Amino acid sequence: MGRKPVMSDAQAMFDSYATDPDVTRYLVFKPYEKLEDLQTWLNYIIREWDRKPGIMYLLFKRNHPGELVGSFSIGIDGCKAEVGYLVTRPLWGQGIMTEVLNYWVDWALAKPDIFRIGALCDVDNPASGRVMEKAGMTFEGTLKRTCMHPNVSSEPRDVHCYAKTR
Ligand SMILES: CC(C)(COP(=O)(O)OP(=O)(O)OC[C@H]1O[C@@H](n2cnc3c(N)ncnc32)[C@H](O)[C@@H]1OP(=O)(O)O)[C@@H](O)C(=O)NCCC(=O)NCCS
Repeated sequence: MGRKPVMSDAQAMFDSYATDPDVTRYLVFKPYEKLEDLQTWLNYIIREWDRKPGIMYLLFKRNHPGELVGSFSIGIDGCKAEVGYLVTRPLWGQGIMTEVLNYWVDWALAKPDIFRIGALCDVDNPASGRVMEKAGMTFEGTLKRTCMHPNVSSEPRDVHCYAKTR
C-alpha cells in the first residue's frame, strides 16, 4: 500500500504535512521551512529506496491518486519490523491510518521470517497509540528517555511501545 516517492512529490509534501506543526509535533523532524531542504532529504530517500524499499511510501487517495494522504515507513531488522506513519491534518480521524496499519501488520506477520511488528509513540500522542491498538498491537510499556522529538523538547522523550507478535 502506497508507492515509492519521486522528486516531483516534494512540492505536495511541502504544501501539506512537511510544513505542518500539528503533524510534525511528535515526529523526529521540525517542520520544513524551505522546499530545497525537503528536496535534499527526498533525494536521499529515493536513492536509499532500492536498498530499503520500506524507507518511505507515499499514500494517496484511492479515487484521486494525485491527492497526497500521508506517508508510511517500515523497517525490517531480522525477525522484526518497525513502522512510522502520518496523515495530513485535514484527513485525521477518518480511519485512514487504521486501514493502512492493519494492511502492513498483516503483510509483515504473513512473512515466514517476521515475528514482530511494532512502533514507538510519544507518551503525549494518544492518537498514535490508539491507531496501533486498532491494528491489533498491544501496549508493552514505556521506554524512558528514548526518542528525540525536537518540537516538544530538546531532551529525549519517554515513549510508549506497542507491538503485535506471532
Ligand atoms: C496518528 C495519526 C497517524 C492517526 O491517523 P488517523 O488516520 O487520523 O487515525 P484513525 O482515524 O485511523 O484513528 C484515530 C484514532 O485515534 C483516536 N484519537 C484521536 N485523537 C485522540 C486523542 N487525543 N486521544 C485519544 N484518542 C485519539 C480517534 O478517536 C481514533 O480512534 P477511534 O476510532 O477509536 O475513535 C495522525 O493523527 C497523525 O498523522 N498524527 C501526526 C503524525 C504522528 O503523530 N504520527 C505517529 C508518530 S508515532
